[in-house]
This record gives sequence, C-alpha cells and structure tokens, in this order.
Amino acid sequence: MIDIQEYKTPQQTNLLKNQSGKKKLYIETYGCQMNVADSELVVSVLQKHGFSVTDDIQQADVILVNTCSIRENAETRVFGRLELFKSIKKKKRNLLIGVIGCMAERLKKQLLEDSRMVDLVVGPDAYRDLPKLVAEAESGQKAINVLLSREETYADLSPVRYDSNGISAFVSIMRGCDNMCSYCVVPFTRGRERSRDPESILREIQELLDLEYKEVTLLGQNVDKYNWNNGEINFAQLLEKVALKAPNMRIRFSTSYPQDMTNEVLYTMSKYQNICKYIHLPVQSGNSRILEKMKRGYSREWYMERIEAIRRIVPDCGISTDIITGFCSETQEEHQDTLSIMQWAKYEFAYMFKYSERPNTFAARNFPDDVPDDEKTRRLQEVIDLQNKLSLESNQKDVGKIFEVLVEGTSKKSEERLFGRNSQNKVVVFNKKNHQIGDFVQVKIVDCSSATLLGESL
Ligand code: 5AD
Ligand code: SF4
Repeated sequence: MIDIQEYKTPQQTNLLKNQSGKKKLYIETYGCQMNVADSELVVSVLQKHGFSVTDDIQQADVILVNTCSIRENAETRVFGRLELFKSIKKKKRNLLIGVIGCMAERLKKQLLEDSRMVDLVVGPDAYRDLPKLVAEAESGQKAINVLLSREETYADLSPVRYDSNGISAFVSIMRGCDNMCSYCVVPFTRGRERSRDPESILREIQELLDLEYKEVTLLGQNVDKYNWNNGEINFAQLLEKVALKAPNMRIRFSTSYPQDMTNEVLYTMSKYQNICKYIHLPVQSGNSRILEKMKRGYSREWYMERIEAIRRIVPDCGISTDIITGFCSETQEEHQDTLSIMQWAKYEFAYMFKYSERPNTFAARNFPDDVPDDEKTRRLQEVIDLQNKLSLESNQKDVGKIFEVLVEGTSKKSEERLFGRNSQNKVVVFNKKNHQIGDFVQVKIVDCSSATLLGESL
C-alpha cells in the first residue's frame, strides 16, 4: 500500500466539523490509504453516536490515533504522538485516548498495560463496536476489542470524508491479506482476505457522484484477488462496472500484486478511457532467491513478463513500485539485481524502504536480520539515487506532451499556480488562469524536475 503522507492535499472546510453541543473527536491517521478509508468509517460510526470531528486537538473529548505497524519507525512515530496526547490528558482528566488500527491489533493489551494513559484499543475489524467501547472507557474501564473477522467489510457504512479535498476519494473493495509475504505484518494485523459486496461498492460510487467527486481509488491490499461470490465477479469485472457507472470520473486502484495481476485487468484498463493508466506493482527485490525467501510467489522473470504485458496492452501506463533493501541474507550481487530490474523497468516512481524486522513474521522467526543497518542504508541510498535519475528521465520524455490534469489544489510555492495529476499519476504544476480546483484541464508540459512536471494550460 502507498503511504498516505505522499497524498496529503489541502483540507476542505467541512460542515461536519465542530458542530456545537456534540462530543468532539480528534483523529490522526498513519500508514496506508486503507487507514485513511478506515478513519472515514470510524467517523461515520461515531458521528451516528453524537460525535463531531475537530481538528483542534485541545478541544477533543476523544483522541483516536489510527496506526500502522509495517515498519518499526511507523510504530515509533505513534509512540511519540502518544506522549503528546498523554501530556494533554494530564491537564484534562476526562479526555479519552484510543489506539486503533494495525498497532492496536499487533500490540493488543500491552498498549493498555504499558501505557496507563491509553483508554481504548480497537483493531481494524472492530470499529462498529467503537460507540460501546467509548462508553465503557467513559465509565472508567479500559476498553479493548481486537477480534479479527472473516466477514466484516463495513459494506453498509457510508464513510464520512471529513478530511477530503472534495475531489478525490478512496473506496475500500476488500479487506485483509492472505499472501503471507515473509517480512510482512499485515496478514496478522488485518486478518484474512475478504471481498466487499459489489452492490455496496457501486452504491458508494453513486454517493461520490452525487457529491461531485471527480476521482475514486479502489483500495485493497491485493486488488487482483477481488472475488465476489466464488468467482462470480473478479477484479477486472468490478473495475468495468465501476468505469461504466462513473464515465466522467477517474478510476484508480491500488495495490496490484505481480503474481495475480491478469491481462484481463490490463485489457479493461485499455478499454475505458476513464480508468487511469497507472499501476503500482511492488517488486520488492529484483533477485529470484530473495523473492523466494520473501515468499512473494514470483521470480524476477515472471515479474518482468508482467511489466512487458503492461507495456504491451496499456502502452502509455505509468508504473511505480515498492522496494525493500537489505532483506535477510541479501548479498551485494542480489542487491545489484534490484538496481538492474529498476533500470530495466524504468519506473516512474518508487517507494523505497530498508528492511525492518517485524516480530512474529515468518522472516523474524526463521531468518537472521543479518544485513547491518549501515549497509541497508547504503543500499537504500543507491536505490533512491537511481530512482531519482529514472524519474527525471521519465519526466523529461513528457516535455512537449499534452496531458489532461485533474486539479487538486493551489501549488504550495505559488498562489498563481495550480497542481493536479495526469492519468499516469504524475504531479503537474501549471499556471492558474481561470481554472478551478476539480476541473479537468489540458496542460502542455514545458519543463520538469524528477518530482514534478511543469506546464502551461491550453
Ligand atoms: N520492512 C520494510 N518494508 C516493508 N514493507 C512491508 N513490510 C516491510 C518490512 N518489514 C514495504 C513493502 C510493501 C510496502 C507497503 O511496505 O515494500 O510493499
Ligand atoms: Fe496499512 Fe496496516 Fe500495512 Fe500499515 S501495517 S501499511 S496501516 S495495512
């Protein structure tokens, strides 16, 4: 999944916030887009029970932090935030602090025991229980529910998009993950894979259309495994239904999994103009022995064939990836294979990480974390340097082209410029003229950096 910090867009003033007389919820979200979608469900559940959202932490009656466990530093960041919340609680005794999401699931009771200031611990499948748990906590008991479910998809709940730009929304199409990559904590924190009823997905798309949203991203840990009613509807078919339902909306999806990504999905992408030409296809490593140790289920050659299929069927597709450096026993030569596959695939963009051992995963139980930290860092830097070069080269090829850009906001650097994304998910900055946030604008690219395309609207 893609880290949401990359996706922050300007907040819209939301009438749902700070309604007087209601209890006030302050919610902070870390981790992936799925967590953003989950926080919107949490607000939906609590709003029905007398809460409004505040973005002023000092006003809060309840602080919830929706957490991520994917790497150790994700957890460290949250522990840092908890210290701040505790200092606020010292001055405001009846303030409740809750940890929800993946860390709640992974650390469970330990969070309540180690940290006497935490009142609530709620895992990703227990959000419906929040009103009851908050009430328990209000009465002075510690409240916890970390049960994972095989069925829960929150299908009937309408998320409250309290922190949205009003343009782009996430819709969760499945939950959990059955892949069991050896390094990954997600199957433990989010449980078994399950698909959401397509009718409820389409209903949510209709709600977004009614609210004049312009873009939707279908979310799942591995969207290619979407499967409704024992094969009645697969991911390609769902994608088609969504594309037909919202012909004037941009459709994106994340995350694809190399072993499961079918040509059928690629043909559906090429058939519908409103499905964005962008795929996030995490490779993790370019070496087949490491991939096997990671239990990814594909080899270097298999992965390369999938990239070739994308280039063949969706020729103008932007491709991004995730990379882990310094996985257990990775040698210099194996690391070179990662660099060479990056060079070969010419990724538009990559999310790059040092391997972080997560307790109880297959890798933690079976393989020593034996690449020294400074070596992981050195390899990571090489990967980052190469990706910067590849991103720049890819952007340079776009100079002179014309793209349709969906405007998301005003550029941070200049009030006179707007920014948005093209279909390939590249950020484009251009002159404002009379264009508005939410418009689709034709932009001719005149210059670029490794991170951004610069253009003139036509
Ligand atoms: N250490 C480092 N990176 C990890 N990822 C997942 N687990 C770990 C880990 N233990 C990365 C993968 C994944 C992305 C969301 O996070 O690259 O695709
Ligand atoms: Fe998302 Fe949980 Fe994975 Fe973090 S650990 S990326 S929050 S699924």
